[in-house]
Amino acid sequence: MNSDSHFGLTGLATMGANLARNVAHHGIPVAVHNRTTSRTQRFIDEHGAEGPLTGYESVEEWVGSLGRPRVLMSMVQAGPATDAVVDEIVPHLDAGDVLIDGGNANFRDTQRRHAAAAEHGVHFLGVGVSGGEEGALNGPSIMPGGDRKPYDQSVKPIFEAIAANVDGTPCCTYVGPDGAGHYVKMVHNGIEYADMQLIAESYDLLRNGVGLDVPDIAARFESWNESELESFLIEISARVLAKVDEATGKPLVDVILDAAEQKGTGRWTAQNALELGVPLTGITEAVFARTLSALKAQREAAAGRLAGPPASGRGGEDLAEDLEHALYASKIVSYAQGFAQMAAASEAEGWNIDLGSMATIWRGGCIIRARFLDRIREAYDNEPKLGNLMLAEFFATALEEAQEPWRRIVARAAEWGIPTPAFSSSLAYYDGYRRARGPASLIQGLRDLFGAHTYQRADREGTFHTQWGGDGREVEV
Ligand code: 6PG
Repeated sequence: MNSDSHFGLTGLATMGANLARNVAHHGIPVAVHNRTTSRTQRFIDEHGAEGPLTGYESVEEWVGSLGRPRVLMSMVQAGPATDAVVDEIVPHLDAGDVLIDGGNANFRDTQRRHAAAAEHGVHFLGVGVSGGEEGALNGPSIMPGGDRKPYDQSVKPIFEAIAANVDGTPCCTYVGPDGAGHYVKMVHNGIEYADMQLIAESYDLLRNGVGLDVPDIAARFESWNESELESFLIEISARVLAKVDEATGKPLVDVILDAAEQKGTGRWTAQNALELGVPLTGITEAVFARTLSALKAQREAAAGRLAGPPASGRGGEDLAEDLEHALYASKIVSYAQGFAQMAAASEAEGWNIDLGSMATIWRGGCIIRARFLDRIREAYDNEPKLGNLMLAEFFATALEEAQEPWRRIVARAAEWGIPTPAFSSSLAYYDGYRRARGPASLIQGLRDLFGAHTYQRADREGTFHTQWGGDGREVEV
């Protein structure tokens, strides 16, 4: 038995296995464990020679093999499976040990687990890990939250070694207390939903509006990947679109069922935005677009019944260039919204999240990695207290330059009857945000008439009510 492993990992499904291998590849001794013991054996048989990896069958032996303070990481499914693992491990730990959850946990669960572990003197870290299987093995983006001191002392050197690295900076930084790391990972995933929805809408417009065929669209995405839009998701969009189905010879995208699934992080992001009162239209529309796509049978029935504009009116103009601008502008909006949400949550929870650092650690390793993130980092470097990303000089100018083609795309999509919820809602947010005075005064008037809900006046302090059912005079209340 190896008695001085520095890092313990339980949960040897693909993400956990690859993360353990990544740590071992850096020469750090890793003790691995899995609930189904045959999987531990198989992992050691297949990968044991890659580095200092030792397998253990029981939790007791596994925990006992680690040097103190112990650093143990769980890579199991979020929800009840994580609770089961935590409940099983904690009784074997000593005060000062560090237990890390690297799954996509809901930050409220992380806060609860953090408090419960603290009762045993155990430091619980909720850590977002992004980058999929490949990232876990070769360098993910890591978003650690929880108690800072034990993180700095026992975990930081390991995570910074295994994380992706951009320009000499690891894509890993301490995010904030208790649930902050998992919160930021949740918003990362929300932004991932919005990015993917914008990509899907672009594809739809090029295919069903402009009339390009799939290989041509793949080529457009490839060229977009050499512009400001350069990002992992644009790059893999070109790859997915270029893929031909072996069985039918058709583009793979034509044989995949058009019903998007989801595991919950996008929905949580939208739910939390509603709780915080943050307008998060891009991400929320992206979640709803997935739920609408999943109503496949209803859509098929409605397709033969609900009227739209004739398809003959489509095409005839190449909107690819406009689309590039619209995609970029909408992307700015969804990131502005996501960052505004992180700022609001940080304030509400007292997390003190450094937004510029979040942009820094998302530049590499994670699913939303993009050239664009450098611009966001620069914006926060220039103005750490930036209220809304759209107001940073660089982005305000980019939006100004993009607005005309962006409007053309949204208008054309509406005329063609092609749904663009992410493009349209982003533009509506932009137009709503840049307006000093909007129509909400009428909503307030209506509320006051039917429910005496009162209103504030724009011209003087106080709370007012008009006596709609009486003499019609305004009273101060
Ligand atoms: C990542 C991803 C990952 C997420 C998948 C699937 O950062 O590596 O965000 O954590 O689980 O993208 O998410 P959905 O099933 O909800 O689309």
